[in-house]
Amino acid sequence: MTSARIWPRTQFFDLFPETEHPIIQGGMVWVSGGKLAAAVSRAGALGLVGAGSMKPDLLQHHIRKAKALTSKPFGVNVPLLYKDVRLQLQTALDEGVRIFFTSAGSPKTHTQWLKSHGAVVVHVTSTPELALKCQDAGVDAVVVEGFEAGGHNGRDELTTLVLLQQMRGKLHIPVIIAGGIGSGAAIAAAFALGADAVQIGTMFAATQESSAHANFKNAMIDAGSSSTFLRMKKLVPVRLLNNPFSENIRLAEELCLSSENLNQILGKGRAKAGMLDGDLAEGELEIGQIVSTVASIPTCEELLAALIADYTLARNRLLNSLQS
Ligand SMILES: Cc1cc2nc3c(=O)[nH]c(=O)nc-3n(C[C@H](O)[C@H](O)[C@H](O)COP(=O)(O)O)c2cc1C
Repeated sequence: MTSARIWPRTQFFDLFPETEHPIIQGGMVWVSGGKLAAAVSRAGALGLVGAGSMKPDLLQHHIRKAKALTSKPFGVNVPLLYKDVRLQLQTALDEGVRIFFTSAGSPKTHTQWLKSHGAVVVHVTSTPELALKCQDAGVDAVVVEGFEAGGHNGRDELTTLVLLQQMRGKLHIPVIIAGGIGSGAAIAAAFALGADAVQIGTMFAATQESSAHANFKNAMIDAGSSSTFLRMKKLVPVRLLNNPFSENIRLAEELCLSSENLNQILGKGRAKAGMLDGDLAEGELEIGQIVSTVASIPTCEELLAALIADYTLARNRLLNSLQS
């Protein structure tokens, strides 16, 4: 069966008509450069360059790298947190990017300006209330992310399954669901509950093309069912693989240390040290709960093929059970 026939014809395909599979590789600081985004888009899903860790010149480099590796559309994820943000967005526009997944910050600030340049704008959020605000701000779609997800999370600790049900019928724009998706069966469940597409981070971090350090990738394979924790709730909550640094944060949080003290423990450069440079003891290792299912480090093409095969099985199982 061709892929066009296995997927429900959701609004995702109106926004991204050239993308074959309704699967987005989430932007990931230090992990999703041009190589990963291009590999995902080349394999028929939608790849995103994660601009969070990049100055504008480095972002330009990664966009050019992705363009050299694929002719398929890809996008850029820009957390709206940093002082360079308008310059990052302008750099991506100048390089011809017209797909923007923004996160953190307010979607009001840049959405209309990006759209005036012909861009599709999707904002990442973690509650139905914020998703409605995104729709009011004029975004084309929202990613709604449960707190199973790797990276920075919402404060309300809503799970993906609950969010999906809370979102039903609330928005007229497409809803992309993220957090804890690591199998085709989970993708089928997301569609059954009304999602238009899924966004996946952790499983793409564990691919050959991701820039995660080999030590980090090996730690992903070794991770058990309870290896991640939500830390730094007083600052910006973030889901981390457990390690000595994460333990220190736990102890500091148990002692109710102030935000200033937590910031001192965090210091500078932890995320790069952990994820890019492979410091498994003192680095920050952002990853989602679904890391417990990572058993190997496939290519993006292999990962997508496995997800699609499992999705097809789940879909057929459901169709058969409805017919019997
Ligand atoms: C290592 C890592 C870094 C991330 N960095 C970002 C980021 O820079 N911007 C962002 O919007 N989301 C970020 N995320 C979240 C992902 O884009 C995605 O929404 C999330 O990983 C989905 O949940 P999953 O990890 O369970 O698949 C990050 C996730 C991971 C695992």
